[in-house]
Amino acid sequence: WDEQFLPPPLRIDDYNRAQKIESRLSGLVLSGATLSRVSDVFERELERGLKEESSSLQMENTYVPELPNGTEEGLFLALDLGGTNFRVLLLELRAGQLVREDVKHYHINQALRLGPGEDLFNFLADCVQDFVRSEGMDKESLSLGFTFSFPMRQHSISSGELITWTKSFKCSGMNGVDVAGLLQQCLHARGLDITVRVLLNDTTGTLMAGAQIDPNVGIGVILGTGSNGCYMERASRVQHWEAAHARVHDVCVDVEWGAFGDNGCLDFIRTDIDREVDQHSLLAASFTFEKYIGGKYLGEVLRCSLAALGRVGLFPAVPPPGSLLTEHLSLFEEENCSGGWSRTLFVLQQACGEEARLGPEEALITQHVAQLISNRAAQLASVCIAALIRRMDRPLTGVAVDGSVYKCHPRISTLMNKYIALLAPNHKFTLMGAEDGSGKGSALTAAIAARVAANNPS
Ligand code: GLC
Repeated sequence: WDEQFLPPPLRIDDYNRAQKIESRLSGLVLSGATLSRVSDVFERELERGLKEESSSLQMENTYVPELPNGTEEGLFLALDLGGTNFRVLLLELRAGQLVREDVKHYHINQALRLGPGEDLFNFLADCVQDFVRSEGMDKESLSLGFTFSFPMRQHSISSGELITWTKSFKCSGMNGVDVAGLLQQCLHARGLDITVRVLLNDTTGTLMAGAQIDPNVGIGVILGTGSNGCYMERASRVQHWEAAHARVHDVCVDVEWGAFGDNGCLDFIRTDIDREVDQHSLLAASFTFEKYIGGKYLGEVLRCSLAALGRVGLFPAVPPPGSLLTEHLSLFEEENCSGGWSRTLFVLQQACGEEARLGPEEALITQHVAQLISNRAAQLASVCIAALIRRMDRPLTGVAVDGSVYKCHPRISTLMNKYIALLAPNHKFTLMGAEDGSGKGSALTAAIAARVAANNPS
């Protein structure tokens, strides 16, 4: 069992060099026993988070009580904020099916991502105004679903405070601010008759979008710039429940596993390379688990690994910060799968500079390191997903997954299928790609909220 988690050895002509490289990077290789330990810690942290005891897992109550049942109706605006592109969408649902989808992308520049939060939210409202004008709907009364893909403390299905920024955002003056309330204010200030009906995370949107296609879906996962998951939990197990809400049977819980281990409970898997990645990141010492998995970081993990080899003379160059991206890691993996090395060498040469003396052996080493990093990312995401599958203990659990890493990495889904099966033996599951949870899922959630409110008038 343990051996099935190990990546293949590095095969280059210089056996001695290969041995030294493997030994220098051995911390990136996790055995089955180590993954079991990670899994035990995850389960413990999960329980503690649900009970509101101190934990690195937030286990946030999203107050989303139901999955789509095919009766969702209506016209909704949806906002998607989380990556560097901000999207505004107009979506129409009829009998649970999407019959219209208009989308506009707006770039959020670095000054907005790192400046005062108010500027960012004014910009979001300007984009919404631009969008509804272009749709000829700026005088209409519209409901809006806000997909805000950051950790929140939710007080209801339509309100929540930002806990901390993650990924590429670090706006000032926003901690503890109700983001739906602030957006609402900015929309009203522009004379728009738009009401923020739901505030959700991209994982929740993905769960909704997946459940609309397959009723077995009970888990939503993002493997994109960041990484996170949510699942349907029994309401009776969720401690944080604010009085205004009826205690339903089930509720969607946002795990926020990107922060797993931020309290030190996972330090046993952390390497010097991970510490370096963390120190160079925008938000150091925060969301450290996400830095093993997220697309914002995998390229940098690869770069720091090669740099570590370079510093002890096992690699002829030390690639500079930012010179390798996750899309390069995906390309190296793709070429590794097909048995070539020339494209890898070309990218590597560009990253390291013309003067670096690189050849096919360096390309093979780089592909090997990319494989170690991909393998570890797939294993750690699988530990979390497998734990949720075991916890839900259904005859068949569907896992809806979205995000750039899942979509663009050539073998992440194959690896995850393998590792989840090893980590949740005797449990049937399916991993399925769910497109555009942040847009479609947001409209579905807004429609569900409207249905639930109509069924339970307070
Ligand atoms: C980060 C956010 C989380 C989001 C994930 C994927 O981890 O904190 O809320 O779901 O990125 O976008």
